[in-house]
Amino acid sequence: MTICHLPLLLPKFNSLAQIVKDISLAKEYLDSGELVAIPTETVYGLAAKGTSAKALVKIFEAKGRPINNPLILHFKDLESVTPFVTTITEEIRRLASQFWPGPLTLLLPKAEKVPDMVTAGSNRVAVRVPNHPVTLELLKSLDYPLAAPSANPSGYISPTRPEHVDTQLGEKIRLILDGGACTSGIESTILGWENGTPIIYRKGVITVEQIGEVLGKRLQFKNKSKVLEAPGMLSSHYAPNTRTLATDQLKETVGIHQDKRMGLLSFSKPTGLKVEREIVLTQKGSLEEMAKNLYAAMHELDALGLQIIIIEKAPDQGIGKAINDRLLRSSTTK
Ligand code: TXA
Ligand code: MG
Repeated sequence: MTICHLPLLLPKFNSLAQIVKDISLAKEYLDSGELVAIPTETVYGLAAKGTSAKALVKIFEAKGRPINNPLILHFKDLESVTPFVTTITEEIRRLASQFWPGPLTLLLPKAEKVPDMVTAGSNRVAVRVPNHPVTLELLKSLDYPLAAPSANPSGYISPTRPEHVDTQLGEKIRLILDGGACTSGIESTILGWENGTPIIYRKGVITVEQIGEVLGKRLQFKNKSKVLEAPGMLSSHYAPNTRTLATDQLKETVGIHQDKRMGLLSFSKPTGLKVEREIVLTQKGSLEEMAKNLYAAMHELDALGLQIIIIEKAPDQGIGKAINDRLLRSSTTK
């Protein structure tokens, strides 16, 4: 027993979580079955010991996440994934050596030791090796993987900075491990196999084309299906509280809503349109930079109590496809 367990038992004087850089403190919390928000290159994750049902249940409670929505397990390397899956094929090895550590999640046949709560009863488990120095060091200090969904209330915008986690979940968790701003900014690409055929379930900064090139195949993208393979495919997800519209017809859309208090996220240059607040997502016209800045800008506008947020769609190429996928989901039902 170390002194670090003591604070867990004390009442919280302040409703917000502690934001720390102390990796060993994060390990203490996780070892004792507590939640810790962790940085990754994509978005912040809400992590718990991936082998403990008691710890895992806290993730669902804190996020208000439906229990049928499975979790990604995070590992330090491919070798440590091996006991948690039934096979490591040649294709998996190739993808891992090309993209791990990095923003690629693989859906693989699960081994018995993976708790059902991780997979929501499915026979596949989602695994990835995140590319963030702080979390990699943390993972190396643990003898179990970390289950971690994005550290936001279910359905809301993912966090890309520690303050986002604190604002959204600070009253529900005790510790946020500070790894600065996430560098990729949108969630990992998810890839699985059906009857030996690789399929993309969620687009990300690693593109369908890049994966196709490594596998020497053209890949399919599965957007919707009768079975809910990945709730990230749900039509309303990644959504601000403020009504949000994604469009490539900025001028017209702003015109239609000019009677409202409006926020605008424009792609690469100021539009000159009359709105209450405009944020330009990338001065350089870089899709990578747009992805990196998108969620932080959405968080910022959502905090202003506006009546509508209008977002300019990205050019529909490369990472732009993943960005537009998120924009579509954040605006569909609002
Ligand atoms: O970049 C990311 O992937 C971030 C960071 C923290 O790693 N995580 C993340 O987790 O986005 P989450 O839970 O917000 O999104 C993961 C998606 C969910 O839509 C979930 O339903 C799907 O992956 N998923 C997880 N395990 C699955 C499984 N066994 N079968 C099908 N879908 C699965
Ligand atoms: Mg999420």
